[in-house]
Amino acid sequence: MSTAMSAGSAESVAFPAQDDWWRDAVVYQIYPRSFADANGDGEGDIAGVIGKLDYLRELGVDAIWLSPFYPSPLADGGYDVADYRAIDPRFGTMEQFDELVARARELGIKVVIDIVPNHTSDQHEWFRAALASAPGSPERARYVFHRGKGEHGELPPTNWLSNFGGSAWEPCGDGWYYLHTFAKEQPDLNWDNPEVHEEFLGILRFWCGKGVDGFRIDVSHGLAKDLREPLRDRPDPTKQYPQAADGSDPMWDRDAVHDIYREWRELFNQYKPAKYAIGESWTPFNERVFQYAKQDELGAIFDFSLEKADWDRDAYRASIERTWKYAKTAETAPTWVLGNHDVPRIASRLGVPTGTDIETWVTSNGTNPPIDPASAARRARAAALVMLGLPGTAFIYQGEELGLPEDFDLLPEELQDPIWERRKHAFKGRDGCRVPLPWTGEKDKAFGFNDSGRAWLPQPDWFADYAESGQEGQDDSTLNLYRQAVAIRKRMVKHGADIDLEWLPDDVCGPDGFGWTLPSGMTVLTNFSSTRSIALPEHAAVLLESRCSGTVDRVLPETTVWYRRV
Ligand code: NOJ
Repeated sequence: MSTAMSAGSAESVAFPAQDDWWRDAVVYQIYPRSFADANGDGEGDIAGVIGKLDYLRELGVDAIWLSPFYPSPLADGGYDVADYRAIDPRFGTMEQFDELVARARELGIKVVIDIVPNHTSDQHEWFRAALASAPGSPERARYVFHRGKGEHGELPPTNWLSNFGGSAWEPCGDGWYYLHTFAKEQPDLNWDNPEVHEEFLGILRFWCGKGVDGFRIDVSHGLAKDLREPLRDRPDPTKQYPQAADGSDPMWDRDAVHDIYREWRELFNQYKPAKYAIGESWTPFNERVFQYAKQDELGAIFDFSLEKADWDRDAYRASIERTWKYAKTAETAPTWVLGNHDVPRIASRLGVPTGTDIETWVTSNGTNPPIDPASAARRARAAALVMLGLPGTAFIYQGEELGLPEDFDLLPEELQDPIWERRKHAFKGRDGCRVPLPWTGEKDKAFGFNDSGRAWLPQPDWFADYAESGQEGQDDSTLNLYRQAVAIRKRMVKHGADIDLEWLPDDVCGPDGFGWTLPSGMTVLTNFSSTRSIALPEHAAVLLESRCSGTVDRVLPETTVWYRRV
């Protein structure tokens, strides 16, 4: 186990090369509440994760990333943390967490945890103390409190909006307001306050001391706000991202945020191996995003380009080229993401007609406009082989390896995502990708999620068709495809980002395809057409085909083939 050391003595802030395990890793995201429930209370738990470690080893993942498991009122699924150094009793105990880290280590699986530094829960002891203290007090100075506008403070201090809808300022009732970029139960911390810096260095040291291998940093572009007086309105408050790529937005992606991560990198590098860190920044995709990934900062950043891209050859190619270029500039590895707990599942999303507004579509229960589920499933499998065929860090969101579609069937009264209420029912929210996973076909056991049959979000009957148990031993199952892909990837794709991608010429891909050849000799070729096949070159020996159809001379429509030259 690593030993905690004080920050500030690191000689170099660059990663030593041997610590770069993450550059080619496959990281599996676990949303603990929905993964596996060992105690049958209807919410997943750490014991459930421990019980699935062998499954994850068989899948071949290098690391797991655990979404928050800290004590929380779950106003935002755990991204409202009430105590950063403990485990929510619903999810287990600290002893179980220690056991998870130890067992994962035995199996060669790294453990990455989620850190939420932009805001706490309103039930955090700091915030309770702040509300109980007077304006101007040290307790309030840990958060962003401000007097309202108007004679009696009856108006919010600025036009800033919450990402979840409505004003980002909540009145305290005395003419003062506090800032919450997300739900009102998630008050924003004041990162101008040195006490906040010290507290988070302490929290990071605590978990490093527990032996975790890295951190995913929630809302990493949001921590630094421009709190200089007078506070400024945002030009277009409805835009939930920086409005200019120059650090001038008062809420998002400000230059000062990078000072925080340089401080953290000094701490992370005092461990052997150095701790991994990856930022979550939903900003427009440009070179500014990669500042977070510089090696003297977090070191890595999520790229959500593929997660957002339509099923379109040019969109995919443009995303990949851009990521590749910027990742090289920052000397980081590119990251590839098809899904996570915040967006509709890929196995449905790729069936949405190009140009459809995804939020409208989710909210309309998938009825308008219709999708073709078979086509969406084919595309999702093809996209998986695009992602896993790219050097860099690949992220699999739990259930993706089962081909699990989005659940559109949740009723309004079943929804838990705060977005539903805050956006006044204009967007159904993110619950459809958070429904507890189906492990077996047994409905009375919540499809193997537990033995009791309870589930914090109801599971639809069709979950049985995607159960893990039903996919075991099926040569053409999505699970089997992922297992094979991850295994082949370890041999053929591991090159980091230090190579140049060699794109296939048009005479190989035709107008519908794209692909690249890796130094190992493996070629990835994807066919984006829904109707036409692409002939494979004569020398091609198929290693893996996303449809598992056994076809060896062509790439079928909506299919990716991995092949090598013979
Ligand atoms: C990003 C997380 O992924 C999301 O689930 C959460 O709601 C927000 N950050 C706020 O913490």
